[in-house]
Amino acid sequence: MKTKLQEKFKEHFGEGASLYASPGRVNLIGEHTDYNMGFVMPGAIDKAIYVAVKPNGGKVCHLYSIDYDEAIDLDMAGEKPAQQWACYIYGVVKEMEKRGAKVPSFDMAFGGDVPLGAGLSSSAALESAVGFALNDLFGLGFDRAQLAKIGQMTEHNYVGVRCGIMDQFASLFGEKGKIIRLDCRSLEYKLEPFDPEAAGCKVVLFDTGVKHSLASSEYNVRRAQCEKGVSVVASHVPGVESLRDVTLEMLNQYKDEMDEVVYRRCRFVIEENQRLLDACQALEQGDYVTFGQKVNGSHKGLSQDYEVSCPELDFLADIAHANPGVLGARMMGGGFGGCTINLVKTEAYDAYLQEIKTKYQEKFGREPRIIEVVISQGAHKIA
Ligand code: GLA
Repeated sequence: MKTKLQEKFKEHFGEGASLYASPGRVNLIGEHTDYNMGFVMPGAIDKAIYVAVKPNGGKVCHLYSIDYDEAIDLDMAGEKPAQQWACYIYGVVKEMEKRGAKVPSFDMAFGGDVPLGAGLSSSAALESAVGFALNDLFGLGFDRAQLAKIGQMTEHNYVGVRCGIMDQFASLFGEKGKIIRLDCRSLEYKLEPFDPEAAGCKVVLFDTGVKHSLASSEYNVRRAQCEKGVSVVASHVPGVESLRDVTLEMLNQYKDEMDEVVYRRCRFVIEENQRLLDACQALEQGDYVTFGQKVNGSHKGLSQDYEVSCPELDFLADIAHANPGVLGARMMGGGFGGCTINLVKTEAYDAYLQEIKTKYQEKFGREPRIIEVVISQGAHKIA
């Protein structure tokens, strides 16, 4: 990718580019908890968005997307661009300006190997790569947490997804072989060693190939439902600001005042936070069996209570849950498509892959894409 990026940059804009990368992410457990001020456990992966950039001294930016093979001129003082991919870059610049930065014009080419629409946060990787690159190139002085916020607000204000902070945070703070245990309320985090191979297991993703097109609107609906539940409890209990402050007891106490759907959404989030804490403790003790059970519980909740799964994801999870060689499996990310994450005993790995391929083919007429990931370094300069 590095060579291709350099070549493409040279072809469009000449010599002298600086190169940066920011990765996609996996999340072990803790889904839809980030915007509810709860906990998440993501890690950066060995698939990234790569950016080549150079100041151009002019008034407009020149952008080139390798994957779309499309070049545009963009005046950052003008309107939001029509191309979705360019909105991410435009949004990052705007969010930087809102925070007082002056961003000179630049030439930029980018591309990557984070599968799109698979729930691996290709968009957060792009926002983080662009933010990290511009910050470094122009010495803008933002720290990584501010860059994560800039990426998140790009989604809110220029893409229309009211996402949490998990994806951008993982892309910027990830480290090789470490999982991030992040408290999304305080942004305090701990990097925990994660070495499944040493415990005799492997992590693998199966991409359903279902693109989560419904995701952005339904995602915002879920968020609003959680806020509704919080407002009911907050009208009785002082100091309640998010689902992080709500216990199951409180929720049950005011259950009659909320819609049944709102109740189930909130219950899922409260339980998911607890599952994460239990899973984390299990991991610290090297107890991958308990850890896997929590992961399975997360899928059940996401599917039945939070209703962000789809038939393809449920099918993959069902096969996994019935296979004694699989310690845990669940859908990952925002949902409505994308992939499952699986923790599999090494000795059962090959047979499991075969089982998944055969059964998925029989049911849906195609094989899921198998994605092996290595937990890797977050945003960095390459050259
Ligand atoms: C998407 C969002 C994240 C998070 C997950 C669900 O990836 O971008 O902020 O909410 O969905 O856990």
